[in-house]
Formats: sequence, structure tokens, C-alpha cells
Amino acid sequence: MRRRAGTNARRAVAEWRLRCGRRAPQPFGKQTRLQNATALSKRRAALKTDVVERALRRPTPQHIEADRAKLWHPYAATPGAPCLPVRSAEGVRLELEDGTQLIDGMSSWWAAVHGYRVPELDRAVADQLSSVAHVMFGGLTHRPAVALGELLVRCTPPGLDRVFLADSGSVAVEVALKMAAQYWRGRGRPEKCRFVALRGGYHGDTLGAMSVSDPATGRHEAFATIPRHHFVARPPSRGADFTKAIESLAEVLARDDVAALILEPLVQGAGGMHFYDPGYLQQARQLCDDHDVLLICDEIATGFGRTGHWFACDEARIAPDILCVGKALTGGYVTMGATLATEKVASHVCAAPPGSQDDALPLMHGPTFMGNPLACAVALASVSKLLKGGWWRRRVRAIEGQLCAGLNPCVGLDTVADVRVKGAIGVVEMKAPLDAAKVAAACPALGVWLRPFGTRLYTMPPFACTARDVARICEAVCFVAANAGDYH
Ligand SMILES: Cc1ncc(COP(=O)(O)O)c(C=O)c1O
Repeated sequence: MRRRAGTNARRAVAEWRLRCGRRAPQPFGKQTRLQNATALSKRRAALKTDVVERALRRPTPQHIEADRAKLWHPYAATPGAPCLPVRSAEGVRLELEDGTQLIDGMSSWWAAVHGYRVPELDRAVADQLSSVAHVMFGGLTHRPAVALGELLVRCTPPGLDRVFLADSGSVAVEVALKMAAQYWRGRGRPEKCRFVALRGGYHGDTLGAMSVSDPATGRHEAFATIPRHHFVARPPSRGADFTKAIESLAEVLARDDVAALILEPLVQGAGGMHFYDPGYLQQARQLCDDHDVLLICDEIATGFGRTGHWFACDEARIAPDILCVGKALTGGYVTMGATLATEKVASHVCAAPPGSQDDALPLMHGPTFMGNPLACAVALASVSKLLKGGWWRRRVRAIEGQLCAGLNPCVGLDTVADVRVKGAIGVVEMKAPLDAAKVAAACPALGVWLRPFGTRLYTMPPFACTARDVARICEAVCFVAANAGDYH
């Protein structure tokens, strides 16, 4: 038994040497503590010298191999498929290490609405760097955070007067859920602690956000242990009769244990790129009021113009009790999210429950990088640039028309189930799932960066794209759709 384990270990070491061309570490048990400590301190001393420089300068194939050997990528195995190595980005183009240029059809997961190396945004970061990059937000404040809070209150749907600056979209959702739970505690109704969410929704990858994302399409079906809330039928596609979906929502909202309904207004993103009717959202708002349930709108993907309206809620002319934003907030420069709440929600979140001995609670959340000054500064620049002279509206309108025309050749292809466009979102729904790695490998030849998931081949171009850029993106999408057999 022992001999077999030794053979396996020797074989593993030999394989490791072959793969990495380096000396393998000794098995732990064979060294004394002192030897281990000495080896460790030698390795650390070496780190201080040229290791980092060599890593940054090594040839591209070694760089890609080291990436595969050491890093996890989103929703990927390790080692996963080789990734395309980006050297730089400018305008709406990513430049790979070999100089190949790709138009970014994904806006870096829907965030880089202005594209890359945008002078106003670069300047905002550089100016902020010259004063302070980061400082804790507990007990301290700074101008960029305060100005951003005020700007968000002014540009989001009416009544959302209190702002929590979170450090990502998922954290903004966690904070929203926590606000809702604390709100009902503060109102003396702690039994209202469950959430209602729509099938097909996606709200992020942290545990709370996972618990309100669709258990199957929301990417978290493997986690049977996370708390599950109430899920209701996804509203049907835009224009279809949603009476049944509203009836099933009404039934669940009538329960005594519901704290809030959380949804992505009008466009469900990562859970399926699904567009639904503003009428559903209006009636959902009304039902929440009727049943004394809070409405949380997750506009992390839809906010700041993407759907053709500044916020998707604006199209339905409703305002939520709690709103989450992220992604395009910083123009894709730095991670940041924000959760906004009405004055009524905020006051109960921090109240002592009436008629109980329990104390008032502050909002129980405080990330280390909350209100990061660099993120706030670039968010101010990004949102101001979008709003200036209605730039976002002109660009999104133009892109919507270009997507409709450019994706039209996909309609009627044998491989395609549906083609839909809303604002600067173009979706070609395939009949069979595509392999994202195979599509990625084809991107350098196509000159466009695309990353489909499941049956959704889609683009969310930067608003800065010209008509030619959008046409190139559409050609690439149509090419993949027409030759789908090569990408399954
Ligand atoms: C609607 C929605 N909510 C939340 C998130 C999570 O945001 P983040 O990836 O910044 O944590 C996403 C990300 O795609 C999203 O689309």
C-alpha cells in the first residue's frame, strides 16, 4: 500500500517537472520543520528579486500556460480552456499580445459603456490618485463619495434618497436583502424574512444573491445547501399575455413571511437574456404595495441606459423601495456597486422594533473598500459623461437600430430559435447550446470579442461603438450563428 502511494507520488513529481520544467518541491513529510522553514524563506527572498519581472516579461505561450496552471477564471474549471491574452485596450478595441485587435462586443461584461482609455475617466482616476487612492469609510468621508451619493439620488427613480456604496454588484444585492430584513425587524415584523424572486433571474454569486437567483438557470443549481426563497414563474416575453404570471405572483406575495420581491426590471440578463413587459412590472409594483412587501429592483445590468431607458424602471414609470446598481456605474474601470433606499425604508432599517426590548441596529454591513475614492471619482466621471447632452440616449438609440438591421440575417436560420433587440442589447437565441471556449478561439479571426452562454449568443456593445463597429459585431454574431455546428 505504502509502496504504491510512493510510486504515485514519484510519478506525479516527474509529471510536474515535465510540465513546468522546474524542480518539484519535496514531499512535505520528508523534510524537517527547519528545512521547510529555510526553503520557504529562500523562496520568499527570491520573490523579492526578479520573479515578478520575469513573470511579466515571459513569452506569451508561457504566460498563457502559467495562467492555466495557477488561476481560476469565472465559471471555469482549473486548469480550464486557454484564455486570449489582452495586452491593452483603447476605444472599443481590445488588443491581444500578438497585436490582434478585437472589437469588444461584450463591454467587459456590460460595464465598459464608454470603451477603454477614455480621457475623462483616465483623468478622474489620475487626479484622485494624486490625493488619496483609498481610505476607510468608517468614521471618515471624502468629497468623491459625497458627490457620488448626491448624483445617484438625483439621477435614479424618485424617492431613493439614501445610498450605500458597495464594492460590487453582488454585494449591492446582499446589502439590499439585508436592508429588507432589517426593515421588517425595525417594524416589529421579524417573521417577514423570506424573499420572492422570478424564475430566470440572476442576482450575483455571493450566497444571499445566489439564494434569490434561479436555482437552475441562475448558475447555482449545484448548491442544494443555500437557503431557498419563493420562486414564481418568469413573466412571458414582451407583448405576450402575463395574466397567469401575475396571478401566481399575487398568490405568493399574499403570504405572511414575505419581506421583499426582488427582480431585474424588464430584462433578465445572465439568467437568460429575456425581455418582458413593462405592464408586468407595473402590476408587480402595485401588488407589493397591496401586500405590504418591499420591491427591490436589481438594475446592475440594466441601469445607466443599456435598455434604451436610463433605468428600466423608468420605462414602466415605477420606482422601487430599494435599488441596486453596479457595472456601468464606474464605466467598467473599477469594481463598485450601490444600494439605494427610500427614506421610509432607511428609517425603519435603523429603528428599534416597537414594543420589544431589542435595540435599534445600525445597518449591519461595512466592507473594507466601501466608498473607495478611486471608484467614486471614476463613477462621477462616467455617469456625468453619459448624461452630458443626452449622449447615452443618442448612442443607445443608434445602436438599437444598427443591431436590428445587423442581426436580421440570423432570423430564419435553421440553427436559430429567436432574435431580439432591446436598447444596446442584441440576442440571438440558438436552438442548441454553444461552447464559449470554441467561440472564443474563433474570435481573433472574426475580429470581435463574443462570449455566449448556453443557447444565448448575444452582444452588449460599448455605447461608444460607431455604426461600422456595430456592423462588424453583427457580422461576427451572424457568422457564428450560421456556422453553429462548428461551435457546439
Ligand atoms: C442583474 C445582476 N445582478 C447582480 C450581478 C452581480 O454583479 P457583480 O458581478 O458585480 O457582483 C450581475 C452580474 O452580472 C447582474 O447581471
